[in-house]
Amino acid sequence: MKFSSRLQEVKRVHWHMVRKLINAKEAQGVKTISLASGNPDLPTPPAIVEAACEALGNPTYHRYPFSYQTGYGKAVASWYRDRFEVELNPLTEVRPIAGSQEGIGNLVMTVMEPGTTALIPAPAYDSYARITRFAGGEVYPLPLRAENDFLPDLEAIPPDVLERTRLLWLNYPNNPTGAVAPLGFFEKVVDFANRNKIWVCHDNAYSDVCFDGYQAPSFLSVDGAKEVGIELNTLSKAFNMAGWRLGMAVGNPDLLAAMAFVSFNTSMGLFGPSQIAAIEALTADKSWMQERNELYRQRRDIVVDGLRALGLKLRRPRATLYIWAQLPPAYGDSLEFSKWVLDQVGVWITAGIFFGPAGEGYVRASITLPTEDLVEAMERLRTLKL
Ligand SMILES: Cc1ncc(COP(=O)(O)O)c(C=O)c1O
Repeated sequence: MKFSSRLQEVKRVHWHMVRKLINAKEAQGVKTISLASGNPDLPTPPAIVEAACEALGNPTYHRYPFSYQTGYGKAVASWYRDRFEVELNPLTEVRPIAGSQEGIGNLVMTVMEPGTTALIPAPAYDSYARITRFAGGEVYPLPLRAENDFLPDLEAIPPDVLERTRLLWLNYPNNPTGAVAPLGFFEKVVDFANRNKIWVCHDNAYSDVCFDGYQAPSFLSVDGAKEVGIELNTLSKAFNMAGWRLGMAVGNPDLLAAMAFVSFNTSMGLFGPSQIAAIEALTADKSWMQERNELYRQRRDIVVDGLRALGLKLRRPRATLYIWAQLPPAYGDSLEFSKWVLDQVGVWITAGIFFGPAGEGYVRASITLPTEDLVEAMERLRTLKL
């Protein structure tokens, strides 16, 4: 029996290797601490869980989701109005997706094919490039450099690449660099996309994990954005709901309608009680988020201080769940560095190479761990001599 050859493109071999390395260290009797995952550790607020529990008993929601309406689209539109000052038509400009991840896959299948190119930040969340290649598309990396505040230089892309380009991926607040984008950059993006007839997808997965008074904007808040693309957003990080698989694709109605043809064939919509929970999350009081983000801020500072004490160079991020830190020049190979740290002190920090070759020379530390574990991890790191 055979598998498709394009399966190679989506194999996440790095992360399997990490599991093995960590298991091997644990087998030596060491309690390891992994700063790998962006999986929020804090529970979903009780009122949201209760709304879902109540809905579970309603037989309407035991049928296929296409047979009922919950008001999910309206709740998304009201959140976008209140939070981002963006007006959306709930029927044509909002599509439910099972987390941003489903949106990433659907969008790629909708616009990419062999012979076409996607512009993908480098480094980046690895799914953009993997699923692009899976669909037979080519990846053109857009370097994100510290000296450019981790924003890509769109004007440096050669004309022949632009000619075959269908899609530009953006993600601010950014995973893995923690960088944020000013609205002026999004304005340039709209102009660039119009001039070159390229769709834009802005993945705003971290829009509501912000610190120090920063509020991440929506790409759609820029004039003309809806004409050139969509934004993906998710309840995973903003509402501590990663396990519920709730997200939204919002913006260009034609692109969303085309994506729906793909999703009808791969999924059947979102479970009703989950939708009810999302409506509660999106429309009820959200002051709890400030407390949650204050806790994340404290954790961020613990990790920032710890990595700096170790001698790594980094910027204190104003958003996301990650600290992106540059290794001293003598430690050019990020994977070797990560393995060495795990071996020495039982702490895993993700090698920058996991986010593509442009991530080499960096490591990424996540803050989705109990604060005491982060303190312990930083204490262990302080015992290392670089
Ligand atoms: C940039 C980015 N996009 C999308 C996702 C997937 O999120 P979701 O849970 O909404 O599928 C992640 C998860 O870590 C992410 O970092």
